[in-house]
Amino acid sequence: MEHSLLIEKAKEASTHSYSPYSEFKVGAALEDENGNVFTGCNVENLSFPAGVCAETNAISNAVSVIGPSLKIKKIAVYTPTESLTTPCGVCRQVISEFASNATLIVCSSEGSATTEMLFSELFPSSPAMEGVKK
Ligand code: THU
Repeated sequence: MEHSLLIEKAKEASTHSYSPYSEFKVGAALEDENGNVFTGCNVENLSFPAGVCAETNAISNAVSVIGPSLKIKKIAVYTPTESLTTPCGVCRQVISEFASNATLIVCSSEGSATTEMLFSELFPSSPAMEGVKK
């Protein structure tokens, strides 16, 4: 799928964000190796650590539907902000479980040029990429 279409899906997901505490809306859309697309948004909680990021929710959604064989081809992250947002450290770890060296991360916002990077650039020396993962 074109980057722009996946970004559109992430943008739509961001409109579902439950973020009354940060008021920071995030949407994510991932495409798997079979062309399936799954989305997620951040869902916050008054007990802050119980909140879940958009990227992690998109992955949970994907595994819930297609099962444990999920392999992420690319994942787009969208925020309706001036600057771009890249996946947080926890999400990098979650993504690593279902990523390959070729997995692409696409970051998009309203005010900045869209960027793309390989997951291996975003999370070099990830334990999952070093063969520690099952
Ligand atoms: N957030 C995400 O959903 N994804 C990111 O990549 C960065 C941060 C969420 C977590 C929290 O709900 C809000 O954005 C503010 O940090």
